[in-house]
Amino acid sequence: MPHTQEYLTPSIDIRYGAYNGTMLNSGYFWHFLGELYNWREKAGLIPNIRKIDHITTQTDPGKRIAAVKEILLASSYDYAYTFEDGGYITSVLEYKADLPVPRILVREPKHTNGIFHFFNELAPGRVGSLARYIGESYMVSDIDEVYRIQKEAATPFATGEIQGSAEKGFRWIETVPSIYTQNTVRYVQYYQDEKMPCCGEIINESPEDLRAFAQIKEEAAAISEILLPIDHIATRVFRHDREDAILEIVKLTHNYPWGAFIIDEMNSSTNPTRNVYHDPERYSPAKVFTAGNIGAPLHFLTARPSPTETFCLNFGRSLHHIAYDVKDDTASGPDNHNIDRVVEYVREKGIGFPGGLTGTREEGLRQVFTKRSALTGWVTEYVERFEGFHGFFTRKNVAFLTQAAGRDEIVPGATL
Ligand SMILES: [Fe+2]
Repeated sequence: MPHTQEYLTPSIDIRYGAYNGTMLNSGYFWHFLGELYNWREKAGLIPNIRKIDHITTQTDPGKRIAAVKEILLASSYDYAYTFEDGGYITSVLEYKADLPVPRILVREPKHTNGIFHFFNELAPGRVGSLARYIGESYMVSDIDEVYRIQKEAATPFATGEIQGSAEKGFRWIETVPSIYTQNTVRYVQYYQDEKMPCCGEIINESPEDLRAFAQIKEEAAAISEILLPIDHIATRVFRHDREDAILEIVKLTHNYPWGAFIIDEMNSSTNPTRNVYHDPERYSPAKVFTAGNIGAPLHFLTARPSPTETFCLNFGRSLHHIAYDVKDDTASGPDNHNIDRVVEYVREKGIGFPGGLTGTREEGLRQVFTKRSALTGWVTEYVERFEGFHGFFTRKNVAFLTQAAGRDEIVPGATL
């Protein structure tokens, strides 16, 4: 096979920072990573992409308000406003209006067809539901230029031409969902302010719902200062898609592969990608890919579980979790963790944690997964890093968390 032999000798490109971890990549991966770096620098893509502006998730019809309440309860985000267009009713949540961190858009569809519905019908764990994570939107400084660059690179767009107008305050385009992740990438340019992430007419929520939103935030005041914005967005992909999914995000965004860690006991690897500006994650969250190490048809030959492949088979290639950062409370002693206070509060409010907390101050970080939400399809992660720890996990933590989440993600009678 001359096609693969050509790339047998990897030349590791670390122009944006060291490559971390234990997972080996193929020569194919390193070859095309270098080619993509060269292409996107020459094309001028990187200076055009500033940060993630918002993420979008979809609920079933009639479940948007309940999903908004759940996210308000589990995070420090506030309700901002709701708008309606031909296809969706969308609520916008902001961490703090004056902080340039990603917003969360929660939308409910007014129709029951379309590609995301089709993806759910293919996933045994989601049949009959329209709830699904849609993707990230990146703020760009010249959308015409980004569109031209990506079109010349054969990136397919679902929106055809650029939508919106400078007079309306913003223009945007959205890719066809990725064949590796089934998520979209959207590019958005603002012209006046950065207040309106999408088109449509502002609508008023009922006074009861507005009161309920306010009450949730009032009750959560004790944790609002220690619960920080989104830290990372974790997607699960099939083993055979791992390298291409990472290369695709390099093609579409300002991220670079930061490393890859094998988690042997859980038969998977975790592959974070981070922004090339080295901005803190809260401004431009990392996009993390988790993939199995052994393909599903071969699992019977091993004695190990494979929760990542199982997740992909049961729920489709998709977002697995959104992680919120928790403020480090170094001053209050070695056994005092802010994350424990967050978990205690959220648990009291009825959100389950299948495995409990893992990690210590000595290890650098402490983490936990919630139970998967039926409203959004997400798991929520909380992560507290101690004294400037820079990583996303310890190997031990990931094994523990993956196992805990896996117990929660088995679909009776579906597969494996
Ligand atoms: Fe995570």
